[in-house]
Amino acid sequence: MTRECVFRARGLTKIYRMGEVEVQALRGLDLELHAGEMVVLLGPSGSGKSTLLNILGGLDVPSSGEVWYLDHRITGATERDLTRFRREHVGFVFQFYNLIPSLTARENVAAVTEIAEAPMRPEEALRLVGLGERLDHFPAQMSGGEQQRVAIARAIAKNPAVLLCDEPTGALDSQTGVVVLEALEKVNKELGTLTVLITHNVGIADMADRVIRLSDGRIAEIQENPTKKAARELSW
Ligand SMILES: Nc1ncnc2c1ncn2[C@@H]1O[C@H](COP(=O)(O)OP(=O)(O)OP(=O)(O)O)[C@@H](O)[C@H]1O
Ligand SMILES: [Mg+2]
Repeated sequence: MTRECVFRARGLTKIYRMGEVEVQALRGLDLELHAGEMVVLLGPSGSGKSTLLNILGGLDVPSSGEVWYLDHRITGATERDLTRFRREHVGFVFQFYNLIPSLTARENVAAVTEIAEAPMRPEEALRLVGLGERLDHFPAQMSGGEQQRVAIARAIAKNPAVLLCDEPTGALDSQTGVVVLEALEKVNKELGTLTVLITHNVGIADMADRVIRLSDGRIAEIQENPTKKAARELSW
């Protein structure tokens, strides 16, 4: 099956300059990501994974090269257009959940759906990640895995085409991490959200359609999984 190309990146480089010191985080990277894919991004610390994800999501800009989202070129877009791109099309999930402590699960999600164009109901998003019974709990009353699932509900409630996850299980034990991955798997399957998942746990790669390995700012390998494992079969 050929699937629509959602992201196309060509010749991406990223150089961070801090005074005299230059760090080359990306060294000329070409990439295509397709609608509905589950992609796992692996690579050693410092290989450029977060840099790449942040550029795709419009949180950062490359030093050179180009990125297209569908037929929109996001490199060279104005700050205002980038903000709109992020708001309308991209959900982010990070290692730390960044929930607002004084708001309940439902209110944390509603904070996003209120400004979105065609959002789901907060209750629906929370049900999708298995938290239908925890709508009125505050972050402090939930486990790390539950808080991360609230963060996923918040990211998907605006119905984004793309979900970008930077070490979403990084702060969780394996068993809790699996529950979070099951939520991502469900979102990918039921909503068809292109999902990119950065992880250090090689075992998680088994749930991907494609596994992309970065090394020193370049793509070292792209591997297609002929069959993928269900998240609940994974452990690390
Ligand atoms: N804001 C920044 N300023 C300066 N250098 C940076 C900045 N962000 C990243 N870097 C450098 O760019 C390189 C790539 O960093 P990046 O965060 O993309 O790696 P990573 O693959 O996500 O690593 P990790 O697995 O540790 O999260 C590293 O050498 C890092 O030190
Ligand atoms: Mg990183």
